[in-house]
Amino acid sequence: MRAMKRYYLWTIGCQMNDADAASAGTGLMELGLRPTADIRQADLVILITCVVRQSAEDKVLGRLSSLHGLKRERPGVRIAVMGCFVDPQGMSPDRFPQVDAFFKPSDIAGLLQFAREQLGSGEPAAPPEPPAVCASVPISYGCDHHCTYCIVRLRRGGQQSRPPADILAEAGRLVQDGAREITLLGQNVDAYGQDLGNADLAGLLVALHEMDGLWRIRFLTSHPAHMSPELIRTVGRLPRVCPHFELPVQSGDDDILRRMGRGHTVDHYRRLVAAIREGAPGCSIATDIIVGFPGESEAQFQATYDLIARTRFDSVHIAKYSPRPGTPAARLPDDVSPADKERRRLLLEELQTRIAGEIHAALLGRTVEILVEERRRGRWKGRTVTNKLVFFDDPADRCGQLLPVRITWAGSWSLRGECVE
Ligand code: 5AD
Ligand code: SF4
Repeated sequence: MRAMKRYYLWTIGCQMNDADAASAGTGLMELGLRPTADIRQADLVILITCVVRQSAEDKVLGRLSSLHGLKRERPGVRIAVMGCFVDPQGMSPDRFPQVDAFFKPSDIAGLLQFAREQLGSGEPAAPPEPPAVCASVPISYGCDHHCTYCIVRLRRGGQQSRPPADILAEAGRLVQDGAREITLLGQNVDAYGQDLGNADLAGLLVALHEMDGLWRIRFLTSHPAHMSPELIRTVGRLPRVCPHFELPVQSGDDDILRRMGRGHTVDHYRRLVAAIREGAPGCSIATDIIVGFPGESEAQFQATYDLIARTRFDSVHIAKYSPRPGTPAARLPDDVSPADKERRRLLLEELQTRIAGEIHAALLGRTVEILVEERRRGRWKGRTVTNKLVFFDDPADRCGQLLPVRITWAGSWSLRGECVE
């Protein structure tokens, strides 16, 4: 009997990479490979990579250099690298001799073909764990914008939307396997269908809303230039579509936004937030900010600070600008000092921690509905429709249930409560 082959999967980066990791895992199991958490036992090592900032790229480079030794000890191990680290223009083979194959982001078919050729296939392995309550489905790949700081377009290419029928079929399979919440993923999820011509996100939400057994639908990430009144109305109208918007603004200053190539102004963004809050009452809004973009003055930073203070986002992801090779902004002098970038980041972090704490504190004593995802450190973990993390204790198995939970403790990052069923 042939020995059972094992794969080791390592992932960093965004939800798109997590979705790729989940699909790769399912495909490899179907080929008869089993997952292992011990890299020394693996016949196939897969890195799913991110290079959005230098810090992410450094982690990938660190992993790659540690794989030198593994390959030397066991030349038979196959090493595959997928994701945004992989330049579609080509990877120099001399630079990473320990790597057997490179795959573009989301090239699951390529990865599986490589696994089949190199390792053969065996008896399909049964999934070892209970199926996930929350699953995600990519609906578009790539991006048609040209933000000057961003490497994603260079690595993922232009937007390619999947046909609605494919998306509905995949969602249907996931729901059949036990998923109760599905997150639709795209670099610009609200631009979905623009390259197809006959589909859009609102239509997709309407179609998914009909699916039996699917209780919650989310979507991310949205781009302010594509958020249509129709989409806002649809989110406000359909009870199973979670009223949560991930809407990066990046800066609160028009001159910086223009030099970032964002394609929207601060005023457009403010009006959009007002329209969303009117069309989907009780919704939550999250955003992304970059501090220290080349040439960002103290006054321009202050404009970002004021935007966050006034808008009162539910959460803000703050990053220090990191020049990415090959992007237009990388040709500008990276002239905000590391100390100023860190100071600006901290100021926003403190502001947002306070705001999120206040927004959460308003939930104290109130009962919210949560979908229980998993057990984490002895507690049940779930989310509200507005994407707020809630933990609670309960001796019973609550996984996959929609439960009313009364909030008893509120922090800036999560909430605690008790089930009042
Ligand atoms: N430097 C810092 N942050 C970046 N992001 C994208 N590119 C860069 C960069 N070069 C941030 C943006 C984006 C998030 C995914 O990462 O805020 O929305
Ligand atoms: Fe990282 Fe961006 Fe690529 Fe996602 S799309 S993996 S965040 S570089």
